[in-house]
Amino acid sequence: MDDSVVIREIQAPEFDLVWPIFREVVAAGDTYSYAPDISFDQAQQLWTGGGTRCFVATSAGYSVGCYMLRANQPGLGNHIANAGYMVAASARDRGIARQLCEHSMAQARSAGFSAMQFNFVVSTNEVAVGLWRKLGFDIVGRIPSAFRHARLGPVDVLVMYRRL
Ligand SMILES: CC(C)(COP(=O)(O)OP(=O)(O)OC[C@H]1O[C@@H](n2cnc3c(N)ncnc32)[C@H](O)[C@@H]1OP(=O)(O)O)[C@@H](O)C(=O)NCCC(=O)NCCS
Repeated sequence: MDDSVVIREIQAPEFDLVWPIFREVVAAGDTYSYAPDISFDQAQQLWTGGGTRCFVATSAGYSVGCYMLRANQPGLGNHIANAGYMVAASARDRGIARQLCEHSMAQARSAGFSAMQFNFVVSTNEVAVGLWRKLGFDIVGRIPSAFRHARLGPVDVLVMYRRL
């Protein structure tokens, strides 16, 4: 079976391709600050509305991951990109997040961004922190107890940054 991964941009009407992954990740309450019971409409607006671009990764016809890409700030801060990534639990540890991040950096470069910043990397998310470091991101800030982890309670959040 061909398990190569194809990554492509989607628009709002195709958000249903991403929603099962989004819902699964957010419901766990351990990596994103979105409300664990967020609705489809809210998630769709956050990831496909207001200048946010959404991408889906598919393998053998199934959605296996997704990411969003946007300017980190409006106006005079809009030269720095922001992104967020999710991989289906059943598709993890196959290098999909690495491919998503590399794809997002290429997209950000071609859109003219000069750097990328992650504002909210949960410090206990060791796989993510390790991967982002391997992909060139530095930890530039630590916010004490900024995330209420579903199992661990209040934990620190990291700000990570790299030039593009
Ligand atoms: C974090 C997440 C995106 C990683 O996705 P993934 O597709 O499994 O990641 P990859 O397969 O690309 O692997 C990442 C790296 O961590 C390593 N890794 C993967 N799973 C691991 C585990 N359970 N323990 C230790 N290391 C692990 C891999 O070996 C890989 O390293 P390498 O590139 O040097 O080989 C995924 O777990 C996820 O969606 N989590 C929930 C949402 C989330 O945390 N998003 C990021 C928010 S900042």
